[in-house]
Amino acid sequence: KNAGRLVIVAYRLPFKIVRENDQAQLFQNSGGLVSAVLSLVKNKNGPVFSSDDKIQWIGFSENTREELEGQSLTNEDFQAHPVFIPEDVNEKYYEGFCNNLIWPLCHYFPSLARFDDEYFEAYQIANRLFFDKIDEIIQPGDVIWVQDYQLMLLPEMIRQKYPDNKIGFFFHIPFPSFELFRLLPVKWRKAIVDGILGADVVGFHTNDYVEYFLKAARLVSGYGNKLHYINMSNRIVKVDSFPISVDFDKFNDAYDDPMVADARNDARHSLNQKIIFSVDRLDYSKGIIHRLRGFQRFLERYPEWHEKVSFVMVVVPSRDTIEQYQQMKSEIDQTVGRINADYGNIYWQPIIYQYRSMPYHELVGMYTVSDVALITPVRDGMNLVCKEYVASRKDRKGVLILSEMAGAAAELGEALIINPLDIQDIADAIKNAFEMPEEEQTKRMDAMRERIKDYDVFAWTEDFFTQMTMLEQEHERLR
Ligand code: UDP
Ligand code: G6P
Repeated sequence: KNAGRLVIVAYRLPFKIVRENDQAQLFQNSGGLVSAVLSLVKNKNGPVFSSDDKIQWIGFSENTREELEGQSLTNEDFQAHPVFIPEDVNEKYYEGFCNNLIWPLCHYFPSLARFDDEYFEAYQIANRLFFDKIDEIIQPGDVIWVQDYQLMLLPEMIRQKYPDNKIGFFFHIPFPSFELFRLLPVKWRKAIVDGILGADVVGFHTNDYVEYFLKAARLVSGYGNKLHYINMSNRIVKVDSFPISVDFDKFNDAYDDPMVADARNDARHSLNQKIIFSVDRLDYSKGIIHRLRGFQRFLERYPEWHEKVSFVMVVVPSRDTIEQYQQMKSEIDQTVGRINADYGNIYWQPIIYQYRSMPYHELVGMYTVSDVALITPVRDGMNLVCKEYVASRKDRKGVLILSEMAGAAAELGEALIINPLDIQDIADAIKNAFEMPEEEQTKRMDAMRERIKDYDVFAWTEDFFTQMTMLEQEHERLR
């Protein structure tokens, strides 16, 4: 067990503070990172940390310093430490370097990547602002866990000033093949690789991402590795895969929650005989347009299902200040409108489309009522939605249609695996899912549920921190 405090550093704090009628309310930020890492809070006295201290969470605050004045930034589980980033820096850092360059490159959209020297400068400045906050609060023995592509320079910054604190780094998105990574200017590539390798343990979701990173480390900075250990003269770094997961019991138990049951019954009564469900942040990596075209192809080729199916598609607003995302939104609006206009009638609307986030009980209500979860990213680091769908199905029914481009496909082979760009493949998978006998649904669900139950989000964190401890023992052995 680690005796020190756990300090999580992520671009976002887990909640945003919204004032309504002079009352401050907390709303969970969307995305898989926050969902998964928040589960740690629940397990903080589990096998990983023995400290009674609250988890310390450092993250960018969307609220200004003035807005937070007098607010309590702590609850029984964690203490939040907001980082304030000047607007002009944040624009070039978050919208620029992170989401106009690193995100498209890592999700295999090089044509969307924009290169700008000012982006990289802002990235360095912003990483330094996160470091300054760490510098303010760090104590000997603290374990610092840095999250994701917004903070790749931070591990090395911490290592230089605090060589004795344990540092972990987790990359939540795909690490791309070297042919994409090398599109970055040489100086940036090197800063990224060296920055990440300031950590003791570096985690990715899949073995492929690990291999790609190791290759980048070798070709960019000349670091070889032996069985995923990189020897950095005075210390060792372990690079490994830790497939992120969900709180299986929470989703499984939610099936019987009365609010979830109500949401399920409401949906059952207001929707058609067969229900397809999808939920994702608005993002070009999620394959939403191809999904819609696949559904359209299904309606075109299999008219016997007309008026018998409802496709509930929830799109959670995300990054709406970025041009690509705004364009995506209007493309989705138009495509949904066109399909509903072409196929719908006064009694039947094929697609029920919502552009908003969903409260938890409604989300699980939809997971548990849907005959099909249609998850079709063109690229996704892991994808937690598909694991949540499977974990929620205590009734052991329902069919998961899953893109082979999601990290989760490596673990969920019993899903109907599709190529997300092949719209006929999507159409046929929907038809096959509707026709799948219940026994077969159950057999596939059982296998997937067993796997997620065995490796839930708690196993994920335990695995990560066990590697940190083992590495420390290895260091001692070498001393
Ligand atoms: N989610 C959310 N708000 C919503 C609906 C869903 O935060 O309105 C959660 C969802 O339950 C899941 C996460 O967002 O835990 C999405 O994670 P995923 O890995 O699928 O994709 P990401 O958004 O991280 O790319
Ligand atoms: C993904 C990323 C996270 C990010 C989240 C939401 O899950 O891995 O790092 O926080 O999306 O995106 P946003 O840009 O709103 O933070």
